[in-house]
Amino acid sequence: MSKIDEILSRYREGSHESLIPILQDVQEAEGYLSENAIVHIGSFLRMSTTKIFGLATFYDRFRFFPGGRVHIRICNGTSCFINGSAPVIAAVRETLGIEPGQTTRDGRFSYELTTCMGGCNEGPVLFCGDNYKTRVHPEDVPDMLAKLKSLSDLQ
Ligand code: FES
Repeated sequence: MSKIDEILSRYREGSHESLIPILQDVQEAEGYLSENAIVHIGSFLRMSTTKIFGLATFYDRFRFFPGGRVHIRICNGTSCFINGSAPVIAAVRETLGIEPGQTTRDGRFSYELTTCMGGCNEGPVLFCGDNYKTRVHPEDVPDMLAKLKSLSDLQ
């Protein structure tokens, strides 16, 4: 039995209200929501993959690509943008050498841009692991990523 089948066995077939918990479980188990997983879930819930994808993209927490061991979410909402998210994003891009949605070759880092994460007064905000980092300055980014790199070596 695949991981996804095992997850689906905990839910009632055709039960649309189970969609979000299923997506959460699958993402937790697989790290992201693959196209294959969405098709599988759609068949189980009798929902179109377009509808599932549309609903899932509404929530920032879902990811549609296999991320790095360290995955960073950078808020690019209006307040964070006004508070300087663009130079922070540029610093992350330059330090890691990848674009949002990509993963570094060593599989260590990935990042994505998100909408508001609810910390508008303390922007720019980014989220990594279980931690929010607030009032991030672009000059802090190289050190922050170096620390995260050391931590990921321990994982
Ligand atoms: S706009 Fe970034 S936390 Fe609200």
